[in-house]
Amino acid sequence: MCAAAVRKAEQPVTIRRARDADLDVIVAIEAQSFPTPWSRTLLASELDQPGSIYLVAVIGGAVAGFIGLWHVMDEGHICTLAVDPDNRGLGLGELLVLAALNAAIEVGSDAVHLEYRVGNDPAARLYEKLGFERVGLRKGYYSDTGEDAVLARVRGLSTGDGRSRLQAAWLRWENERGLQVAVE
Ligand SMILES: CC(C)(COP(=O)(O)OP(=O)(O)OC[C@H]1O[C@@H](n2cnc3c(N)ncnc32)[C@H](O)[C@@H]1OP(=O)(O)O)[C@@H](O)C(=O)NCCC(=O)NCCS
Repeated sequence: MCAAAVRKAEQPVTIRRARDADLDVIVAIEAQSFPTPWSRTLLASELDQPGSIYLVAVIGGAVAGFIGLWHVMDEGHICTLAVDPDNRGLGLGELLVLAALNAAIEVGSDAVHLEYRVGNDPAARLYEKLGFERVGLRKGYYSDTGEDAVLARVRGLSTGDGRSRLQAAWLRWENERGLQVAVE
C-alpha cells in the first residue's frame, strides 16, 4: 500500500446518508468502478426512492465511496457498492457494508442479499469476510460482458448473535485503525 493511502486512512471517517449534493462525486466514482456505469439520471432517482437507503463514506472531508441498499418486505438487497480507486484498500468498502447491514436491521431486515460478478475477487473476499455465504450462480447475468453473477446472502442479522457479530466487526474495524467512525 502506498504511503499516501496510509495517511488518508488515519483521517476521520464519517458514514452518513447520501444527499443530492453528493451526486457529482457518486457519478464520478461509479464511472471509475463499473464497466457499464449507471447513469446520473438513474443514480439520482435511486437516491430519492422511498425503499432505498444510500450511504456515503466521507474521509478527510470528501466522499470516497457509497453503497445502496434496497429494502423490500423484511429483506435487504445491496444493489451497489463502490469506493473511489484512490481510496481503496483502506477499509472503506468493509465499513460501508457494515453500515448498510446496520441500516438493514434498523428497517426490519433479517437477511441481506447481493450479487457480484464471478471474477470480482475483491468483492468476493470482502463479502466472505463479512459472513456472506454463496447461495447460487446466475448464468450470464451481466449482459455487458456475459459474466455470471454469484448470489450471496447473510442471514440472522436481527438476532442477538447477528447484532453482536456486527457490533464486534465494527469495533474491530475501529480498533485496527485507532479511529472512531462518526455516523450521522
Ligand atoms: C470492492 C470494493 C468496494 C472494495 O472496497 P475497498 O474499500 O477497497 O475494500 P476494503 O479496503 O474495505 O477491504 C475489505 C476486504 O475486502 C477484500 N479486498 C478488498 N480489496 C481487495 C483486493 N484488491 N484483492 C483481494 N481482496 C480485497 C479483503 O478481504 C479486505 O479485507 P483485508 O484488508 O482484511 O484483506 C472496491 O474494490 C471497488 O469499489 N471495486 C469496484 C466496484 C465493485 O466491484 N463493487 C462491488 C460490486 S458487487
